Amino acid sequence: MSLQTVLVDELRDLYSAENQLVKALPKMAKGVSSPKLKDLITTHLEETRGQVDRLKHIFEQLGKKPSGEVCKGMEGLVKEGEAQLQSDEEGAAKDVCIAGAALRVEHYEIAGYTAAIAVAKSLGQDEIVSLLSESLEEEEAAGQKVQAQAEPLLEEAASEGEEEEAEPAGRATKTVARRSAHRVSR
Ligand SMILES: [Fe+2]
Repeated sequence: MSLQTVLVDELRDLYSAENQLVKALPKMAKGVSSPKLKDLITTHLEETRGQVDRLKHIFEQLGKKPSGEVCKGMEGLVKEGEAQLQSDEEGAAKDVCIAGAALRVEHYEIAGYTAAIAVAKSLGQDEIVSLLSESLEEEEAAGQKVQAQAEPLLEEAASEGEEEEAEPAGRATKTVARRSAHRVSR
């Protein structure tokens, strides 16, 4: 297998991953309560569309078709994110779960772009390296923003947890039972 083939495979994988995200991010944005996290996800959706266009442009340069690969890793991450969205939990704790799913997605993409950039570099494909680097920077920034956004949500979720502990015994027990059922189903 030539390195050129490796590069095209890596790029097709990324193209599939980004397209899956264009479909998944609106559902994620809809499922979170925090307006700031919602904004962040919506902004990243726009960036993701730009990343798809960037990849299309690279394929044109290479004279190759972008389709032909299904990114199984992203399929798995999207499925996990959807499971978080379907949980009957609400509020900050649920947002923390979704932020975790979003962070996994960003780190997976960071790995994908880093790998593709390394191959393109070794092939001396400078323009492709610089286009992919733009997307990599966006993914890194998005990951950092998700992490920063998760901090106040964690605090909020912690105080929500304390309130639940202060609930009357019957209700609190139900909450705990629901929580552990949720944990088992994950
Ligand atoms: Fe992306």
